[in-house]
Amino acid sequence: MYRLAILTSSDKGSAGLREDLSGPLIAETLRELGEIIATAVVPDNREQIAAQLIAWADQDQIDLILTTGGTGLSPRDVTPEATLAVIERLVPGIPEAVRAESLKITNRAMLSRAVAGIRGQTLIINLPGSPRAVAECLAIIKPVLPHALAILTAREGECARP
Ligand code: MTE
Repeated sequence: MYRLAILTSSDKGSAGLREDLSGPLIAETLRELGEIIATAVVPDNREQIAAQLIAWADQDQIDLILTTGGTGLSPRDVTPEATLAVIERLVPGIPEAVRAESLKITNRAMLSRAVAGIRGQTLIINLPGSPRAVAECLAIIKPVLPHALAILTAREGECARP
């Protein structure tokens, strides 16, 4: 069982003007992967997003952080920049796969600037904001997460398939 945290980046959500449906959807979808240690809704603010990611990775020893929202083209969308500011190693294959598979569903998938990477022993993955997009992206990512986390936390040493 892994330690999970979910960060929703949303100006409206953090102001109480919009219910956060995507955070709870992520929690429900990844329930069997581990325990949801923390969730938070923050404004689309680079410093606040980065500070929350750092706190969860460095102090709370979270294995996997999923962010939702703020990956698009609007001037307020800064989740990828906040993520890039705190990660030490990129995991480009995750957003590559998500965009490639999502493009089969909607050409708007190319508008997600999501990134994924590692800080210490914490994997951080950006997801888009809408619940529908979250569900589609998690369906692509979820099957590989147990192996990714096992390798990252050194619970498994071998990556090669038998
Ligand atoms: N990916 C999937 N699978 N399904 C979607 O509906 N929406 C796209 C894209 N990725 C979408 C998707 C759209 S419309 C946008 S604007 C971007 O994600 C960024 O979304 P965000 O700004 O809510 O993070």
